[in-house]
Amino acid sequence: MPKTTRRMIAILGIGTFLVVSLLFLTYHFVIGPQGLKTSLPTLSSTTVGENKACVECHQKDNPGIVEQYHDSKHSGRGVQCLDCHKPVSGQETMTKDHYKVSVIAKPSPKNCEQCHKDEVKQFEDSNHAAKSWYSVEGAKNFTPEELAKNHLLDANGKPVGGGNANPVFNLIGKDVSAQSCEVCHAIGQKNQDGSFGDCTKCHLRHTFDVTQARQPETCGQCHLGPDHPQIEIYNESAHGAYYQANKEKFNMDAPAGTLTVKDFPAPTCATCHISAFGSVPGTHDVGQRLNWTLTPETASIRKDGAAHQQTMNAVCLNCHVQPFIDDVMSKADKTIDLTNQNVKKGKSIVQDLSDTGLLGTKPFGTPLDFLYFELWHHEGRRARFGAVMGGADYVNWNGIYEQQKALVEMQAQADALKAKH
Ligand code: HEC
Ligand code: HEC
Ligand code: HEC
Ligand code: HEC
Ligand code: HEC
Ligand code: HEC
Ligand code: HEC
Ligand code: HEC
Repeated sequence: MPKTTRRMIAILGIGTFLVVSLLFLTYHFVIGPQGLKTSLPTLSSTTVGENKACVECHQKDNPGIVEQYHDSKHSGRGVQCLDCHKPVSGQETMTKDHYKVSVIAKPSPKNCEQCHKDEVKQFEDSNHAAKSWYSVEGAKNFTPEELAKNHLLDANGKPVGGGNANPVFNLIGKDVSAQSCEVCHAIGQKNQDGSFGDCTKCHLRHTFDVTQARQPETCGQCHLGPDHPQIEIYNESAHGAYYQANKEKFNMDAPAGTLTVKDFPAPTCATCHISAFGSVPGTHDVGQRLNWTLTPETASIRKDGAAHQQTMNAVCLNCHVQPFIDDVMSKADKTIDLTNQNVKKGKSIVQDLSDTGLLGTKPFGTPLDFLYFELWHHEGRRARFGAVMGGADYVNWNGIYEQQKALVEMQAQADALKAKH
């Protein structure tokens, strides 16, 4: 073989080796075993124009924000900082000049709406939006149009429930409320642009993912405690026990709209109340699957309750047979009835005293006011929630038992008051 041919072969050999190595390295470090992520470009190529400056500067001072954004589906799909932080119509008063670019500090559902119309509409129709803010603040922050649009006017056109701030809000005072009522109820806060709500309560910024929203702990930030212990009830239910013991079997990041029993062998809060599951379509209106209104003094059936119940039933049917579900629901109805009867008894004790002028007119002025309040607001609700979501301890020891005890205490106090006068 001539020398030049041998050299050619050597060069070809080395060349082939280099090309193969390069291909291997590209596969290993750039493409990866998941395939080429054309839909998930690297951060530098997703931030263009003015957004590039946002990332570069905030990367230095607040790398956490950029890191969370980088982890989000948004960054993979080329949604940029300014897609959310650029003012839209109605946000003129929120707009600031920020390093020569007009931005808003607090994007609202109005900004999300540009791309997520359905979710925003469903959320706005739900009690998580304006209703939630109204429950704490009353009508004072609402325009007449907002009250009408959000079903916050009664049959006589007056604000529902009179429209005053909640008596417990007044009891604890405005300053403290900013760190209590208003933190949880800000899920429906009134924003400066007139919209209601805060999507980041479930889709924490800047990851904005479904994974977190599907975890019971996310709902449990607010749905806990003596008056609405849904997370505690879930944790003691068979569903919660299954979830705690088998977390790794849950496919938490499956794309929305594709969830089945293969992804979720047992339900979380979101499965029953929000997610698309099997053939049941998803909704951001958490009232859409509820038959009962369980929070007021007396629980009652909702308008369109039967249709809502069918949807919830269809969720259960993925994993249980109809007779099983009917049995659970009919037992729950009986417990709910009993809580209503107990509240009625308590109310007549209080009514009797106030009719004879023995109770003051100041809200929460006597120990009896607290006993009656907790009879429905804590114990009654707890038993109801336990009944519909599988929390036996909440039906019994934290619920009906406490109600029976309170009724005896209330009667004794009422008798003592009457004897004194
Ligand atoms: C040169 C650096 C720099 C650039 C460029 C920059 N920021 Fe900032 N940004 C800051 C600093 C520093 C703060 C802290 C608050 C302040 O000083 O205004 C901040 C605050 C913010 C806030 C919170 C404002 C508030 O009032 O709470 C938002 C939102 C924000 N930046 C978004 C952006 C967006 C979107 C871009 C791109 C259009 C951007 N920033 C570009 C440095 C920068
Ligand atoms: C999908 C919409 C969205 C995108 C994209 C987005 N943000 Fe935000 N950002 C928000 C929302 C919502 C808030 C919270 C507003 C509030 O406080 O109510 C926020 C808050 C902020 C804040 C102030 C709050 C804090 O934690 O200090 C800064 C700063 C900020 N964003 C910067 C950025 C930067 C930089 C980018 C791009 C890398 C970016 N954002 C991309 C929606 C977005
Ligand atoms: C410019 C358009 C745009 C804006 C504005 C926008 N998004 Fe998105 N969002 C997208 C796209 C695109 C996706 C990815 C959809 C997909 O992969 O199916 C997405 C996905 C999501 C997801 C699902 C993520 C997952 O894990 O599957 C959530 C949650 C979300 N957005 C919330 C928000 C919220 C909250 C806001 C407002 C603060 C917002 N988005 C603003 C375009 C946008
Ligand atoms: C830890 C979070 C949290 C705090 C703090 C909180 N709430 Fe709530 N509140 C909730 C949740 C969650 C519900 C929904 C319960 C349900 O539907 O079962 C609720 C329901 C209500 C309702 C019932 C709505 C109705 O009409 O049916 C009212 C009224 C209310 N809260 C007022 C207040 C007031 C006033 C305060 C402060 C004194 C307050 N809340 C503090 C989370 C909270
Ligand atoms: C009470 C918690 C909660 C709030 C508040 C919330 N979401 Fe969601 N969101 C969820 C859950 C849970 C899912 C996952 C649904 C599923 O599993 O099918 C989701 C899914 C989504 C998706 C993906 C849907 C799809 O079909 O790809 C988008 C987009 C979204 N949310 C936007 C928003 C916007 C915008 C807001 C504010 C207006 C918002 N969300 C407020 C709980 C919430
Ligand atoms: C930031 C606090 C917060 C978080 C997080 C939250 N909620 Fe709520 N939720 C509330 C408040 C407040 C209300 C009561 C609104 C009212 O009527 O005043 C409520 C009411 C509800 C209701 C009753 C709705 C109705 O029509 O009466 C359901 C069901 C519900 N939430 C489910 C969920 C689920 C499921 C999650 C998690 C995916 C969740 N919530 C996350 C605060 C929260
Ligand atoms: C197995 C399904 C299932 C799971 C899991 C579940 N719930 Fe429920 N939930 C129900 C049913 C059924 C009702 C009563 C429905 C009705 O009104 O007929 C209910 C009622 C409620 C209510 C009462 C609404 C009212 O009328 O005041 C709230 C709030 C709520 N759930 C929140 C949650 C939260 C938060 C979690 C997780 C910690 C959760 N749920 C887990 C099925 C479920
Ligand atoms: C994704 C599947 C799934 C869905 C949806 C589901 N469940 Fe379950 N359920 C389970 C699993 C798993 C268990 C635990 C089985 C066991 O303990 O043997 C369970 C247990 C129960 C139990 C306790 C049974 C016992 O013998 O202790 C009740 C009651 C129950 N479910 C009611 C419901 C109701 C009512 C619904 C709808 C509102 C529902 N489930 C929705 C999977 C599901």
